[in-house]
Amino acid sequence: MAIEITFLGHAGFVLSDGRTALVIDPFLSGNELAKHRPEDLSCDYVALTHGHPDHFGDTEAIVRQNDATIISVFEICNYLGERGFSKLEPGNPGGTIRTDFGWVAFTHAFHSSSYDGRYMGMPTGLVVRMGDTTFYHCGDTGLFGDMQLIGEIYKPDIAAIPIGDRFTMDAELGSKAAELIKPRVAIPIHYKTFPMLAQDATGFAPKGVEVKELAPGEAWRYEP
Ligand code: NI
Ligand code: MN
Repeated sequence: MAIEITFLGHAGFVLSDGRTALVIDPFLSGNELAKHRPEDLSCDYVALTHGHPDHFGDTEAIVRQNDATIISVFEICNYLGERGFSKLEPGNPGGTIRTDFGWVAFTHAFHSSSYDGRYMGMPTGLVVRMGDTTFYHCGDTGLFGDMQLIGEIYKPDIAAIPIGDRFTMDAELGSKAAELIKPRVAIPIHYKTFPMLAQDATGFAPKGVEVKELAPGEAWRYEP
């Protein structure tokens, strides 16, 4: 079964199997490169890798308009609970949440996480199993050796890897990450959005891994 992967720009995605749609890190308002508006997105779930505003983004509006379920770490779910949201699936690294489309597992990520002046728990990567496809969103992170273990355990078909430098890996370290994870396809993310970040994916060339660069707004149908 194919799934459709839509890149929202920056670190944002929509994954859909035709029945269920999962949004990840929907940073649209304030992202000049984004092609979607929050009201364009229909979904059942919104998953967040961490609390930073360039990931939390339009979560509240999107969840509200879709009556969607939130998947994220304990602290972010608590925060959204206080904000009046009730469909919450909290987790933390190492854990897996079973869903009607498959599952979402939390990995660690070497980064920080805060929102609205508040500590938001561990930053994470997310491994999403939908249909016959496994998609590893690394979140914002530096390089770490356990990416190899994450690759061995979850065997992702696709990995979305941050390469914009400064707050995450650059293209060279991102290439090393892809070589450790060994997905079939690697998608570079978290670049070009701001002047502070690398402006293109030049140098992202992992050995033995196909690179698929998606433009903001682009949808790609993946056949496993
Ligand atoms: Ni961040
Ligand atoms: Mn970020």
